[in-house]
Amino acid sequence: MLDQLKEIVGAAHVLTQEDMAKYSQDWTHEFRWTPLAVVRPATTAEVAAVVKLASDTNTAVVPVSGNTNLAAAATAEGAVMISLERMNAIREIRPEAKLAIVEAGVVLATLREAVEQHGLIFPLTFGAQGSAMIGGNLATNAGGSNVLRYGNTRDLCLGLEVVLPSGEVMDIMSELHKDNSGYNLKHLFIGAEGTLGIITAAVLKLSAKPRAYATAMVATQSVSGALDVLNRLQAATGGSVEAFEYMPKPYIDAHMRQISGARAPFSSPYAHTVLVEVGATSEAAAASGADGRPMVASQLEETLSALLEAEVVCDAVVAQNETQRREMWARREAAAEVVFAQMPVINNDIAVPVDKVESFLARADAAIKQADPGAFAYVVAHLGDGNVHYAVKAPNYTPEIKAQIVEIVEDCVLHFGGSFSAEHGIGTYKLPSMARRKNKAALSAMRAIKTALDPKGIMNPGKVIPE
Ligand code: LAC
Ligand code: ZN
Repeated sequence: MLDQLKEIVGAAHVLTQEDMAKYSQDWTHEFRWTPLAVVRPATTAEVAAVVKLASDTNTAVVPVSGNTNLAAAATAEGAVMISLERMNAIREIRPEAKLAIVEAGVVLATLREAVEQHGLIFPLTFGAQGSAMIGGNLATNAGGSNVLRYGNTRDLCLGLEVVLPSGEVMDIMSELHKDNSGYNLKHLFIGAEGTLGIITAAVLKLSAKPRAYATAMVATQSVSGALDVLNRLQAATGGSVEAFEYMPKPYIDAHMRQISGARAPFSSPYAHTVLVEVGATSEAAAASGADGRPMVASQLEETLSALLEAEVVCDAVVAQNETQRREMWARREAAAEVVFAQMPVINNDIAVPVDKVESFLARADAAIKQADPGAFAYVVAHLGDGNVHYAVKAPNYTPEIKAQIVEIVEDCVLHFGGSFSAEHGIGTYKLPSMARRKNKAALSAMRAIKTALDPKGIMNPGKVIPE
């Protein structure tokens, strides 16, 4: 097998033993495995040849790109890992059509920088963007902080190239915004976490880069007060809010403990704080007013002032320059680092309707104390889209208490019509939740699709779909 792999990708790109170290654990270091080998193909044809070999020999294959997934979706005990890192070409950027054609191994931040030179953005953003790659972003339908305005990765993709479990290459690299030629297979592979095939390239949608940003930290009386801020601001700016990220006090405190040089957002502490960013897309919104600052900054300040008067907002700090803006974003982007440093934590990535976030938090905060009276949550939420990262710290942590708390949180999520998985996916981490909570008919449909496309079960086996 190793010899045949070397023939396909070259000996230098078949890694074994200690060379596999960085591919042998997940980002949290909670999960470890020993692959049979790690191969680093350079072309779609090489990926296809590796998969064909795997199919002929009934060998499990696990695709991996940036390896920053938080659901243990790339565990690969005894499997051939296919790393897409060498397939990192940005093939085309077409500003007029606002699209980019890229290979799966392009690092998200690299793509963002490349399109910015054309006055465009690829509007997918989150803390791991410096290492996460487009293939993994698509495979997990990554979300992040700009979903409110631009949607999930799924909404940013026009076309795909996928190596199927048979080794056949499916070219649906559409550049079209309208294409009703049969089933929309693209959406089947996006979010499938590599269980149906390996995404090797994609056509991605770009957006105009906002001409100016207005960014602020806002303290509010409550979560519903924060939603007031969001809705008034959307009305004032014609729906130009890019990010609305909730960071209550336990997270702010943990951030200051954890990150050296981190500063408090306000001179006095507040229970509820939000990072808000508005992007001025129109010339009018970006134009300077009498005070020399862009209109969008005045719109933000006027909205905040009115709500300060109404005692909905307690305090607000508007970034006066890019350095201050970056400091606000750094506080938010450190979330995974800050929260996972508190290990063991019980990570729950959930979604509820936006107007139920406050009730969800109240209910879950009370309920988890049934499992461990001292339990509390580090919360960071993409409040604008209802996605809550609810990471529970239980002082009496045991695997049993963890299992109990996960079920308690799921019960609360279900009570509000939410989802037990919002943006991090299922991987292996959430298989028990999937078995318990996913609609049975939906699970059967997923199994039927998996069996039809991957009859030998070689493609990222044991992920997403419970036994
Ligand atoms: C975040 C990642 C962990 O929102 O989803 O920071
Ligand atoms: Zn997130």
